[in-house]
Amino acid sequence: MNDASPKSAAQPFLSDVKTLRERARKHIEKGAITQSYGGDVGQAIEILQSVLATEIVCVLRYTQHSIVATGLASEGVKAEFAEHAREEHGHAMQVAERINQLGGAPDFNPQTLTARSAAEYQTSDKLVAMIRENLVAERIAVEHYRELVRYFGDHDPVTRVMIEGILGKEEEHASDMLDLLVRHGGIASEKPR
Ligand SMILES: [Fe+2]
Ligand SMILES: [Fe+2]
Repeated sequence: MNDASPKSAAQPFLSDVKTLRERARKHIEKGAITQSYGGDVGQAIEILQSVLATEIVCVLRYTQHSIVATGLASEGVKAEFAEHAREEHGHAMQVAERINQLGGAPDFNPQTLTARSAAEYQTSDKLVAMIRENLVAERIAVEHYRELVRYFGDHDPVTRVMIEGILGKEEEHASDMLDLLVRHGGIASEKPR
């Protein structure tokens, strides 16, 4: 094995191991944030706090809907709402963990939750209206997260990949809600028959 590294070779973007180790020791209190973090950490945390709030509001809305949805036709819908509530909870946990890794404290304060959330907490006693509210909330989340994927881009690939994963789920959720809306007569099917 030849490990003789050329001392004077130009290394335009790779730091040598010694420099990396020194930097890692020097800023040890910063946890996952290293000098190569390309973005504004404070802003990243603030953005993720709004994603966290959005996910928590979605957990609460879907949970409430899964319980109050009544009627003969509602059993399948209730199960779908409950499943989405669980998945939104998973998203909230992922985002909270990432905020923690970036050095922030995830904000679960219920008092300011809806103001920080992109999605709204809307309820109804009508099944079709519930489905429609969830579809609207999912579409808001999809729009918001698409923007965030672009925002995190290459300067924070870990957060970007996490948001991409969540975005994929929200698109699935939106599609599930549209299917339910069609099935329950809330909207005419635009799919070719
Ligand atoms: Fe979600
Ligand atoms: Fe969702």
